[in-house]
Amino acid sequence: MVTDHAFYMQLALNEAWKYQALTYPNPPVGALILDRHGKILSIGAHHEAGHPHAELNACIDAVQATGDTNIAQLQTPLEQHRYLTEHYRNYFKGATIYVTLEPCMHHGKTPPCSLLLHELGFRTVVIGTVDPNKKATGAVAFLQQQGVDVIANILKDACDALIYPFMKWQKNENFIFFKLAKFQNGTISGKHVSSEESRTLVHHMRTKIDLLVIGGNTVKTDRPTLDARLVNAPKAPDILIYTSDKNIDRFIPLFQVPDRKVYIEKSFARLNDYRHIMIEGGEGMFHHSRNIVDYYLFFTSDKFRRGKKIDLDANLKSLHCFKNSSDTIAWFKNLMKDTM
Ligand SMILES: NC(=O)c1ccc[n+]([C@@H]2O[C@H](COP(=O)([O-])OP(=O)(O)OC[C@H]3O[C@@H](n4cnc5c(N)ncnc54)[C@H](OP(=O)(O)O)[C@@H]3O)[C@@H](O)[C@H]2O)c1
Repeated sequence: MVTDHAFYMQLALNEAWKYQALTYPNPPVGALILDRHGKILSIGAHHEAGHPHAELNACIDAVQATGDTNIAQLQTPLEQHRYLTEHYRNYFKGATIYVTLEPCMHHGKTPPCSLLLHELGFRTVVIGTVDPNKKATGAVAFLQQQGVDVIANILKDACDALIYPFMKWQKNENFIFFKLAKFQNGTISGKHVSSEESRTLVHHMRTKIDLLVIGGNTVKTDRPTLDARLVNAPKAPDILIYTSDKNIDRFIPLFQVPDRKVYIEKSFARLNDYRHIMIEGGEGMFHHSRNIVDYYLFFTSDKFRRGKKIDLDANLKSLHCFKNSSDTIAWFKNLMKDTM
């Protein structure tokens, strides 16, 4: 039976997954607020490191929905935290918040979210999974000591899958995801398989990863740039071209991008030097890398196109799926990888 708790936690999870691979080195987190009568006030997420945590974002959204335009003018999470506790204690009194990850307890780039929830008078805090980060944990005990009802482990497995990349970084291990774009009928040939909206998301991801892996044939035929121009970002990841052929034309645009290292290598050993890694590949790279990939990210266009269909042999578990204007975006876990 689907309980209300699971229903609301799923909505918070849905919001958080939109930012998967964008929050490095932080975890993606989602939050949903119900007022004291059970009406949804807002759904928020953590968007990127240094920006407000999900709980703060959800509070800000709820306040903006009242017509308050002042909070949008505030620049830092610290100012936003202060503004909320000065003006909105009564507004959130008796409210419930669903958070996919235990609220933080530490003063980092943002003040502790557990303190914010206590100061704003939340009555109930429903948590998906308890924070594996020792520095941040302790919110459950703190909130309970303040008289807040805490309910933990709602959709725990799903919430753990959301933060699996973060858990790897915490252990100083790398997280590797494989991104593939295909048409509805399984063909992948041609430029721009997915929509501009999806390609913009991938460019945003390129600003967050530290290594991008690409096959040698793709580099030779597509002559790509592999930068983040769709989000106007100067940062572009280092590149590993996976090939046994060192003889690659250095006039290919990816070599012209400043402040980037390019490796041309016939092994994946280099990946051990990096933490947040995306492989952008087709069928060949899919098969070569199947033992090292953690998660897969498939963009499936609503459109059909004639051509050779991609033939994949894999054992995957579906984690999350959502839609933008013309593509379906799906995350999978690789069950082939023995560490999982
Ligand atoms: N739709 C999409 O999302 C997408 C993304 C990327 C690519 N593609 C398309 O998919 C097609 C195939 O691309 P792909 O990404 O699958 O791979 P690819 O570009 O064909 O690269 C595979 C690479 O693996 C290398 N390789 C094979 N065995 C190796 C070994 N034992 N040691 C070292 N290197 C080895 C090959 O090296 P050698 O050069 O030495 O043979 C080859 O360059 C391309 O046409 C591309 O345009 C589509």
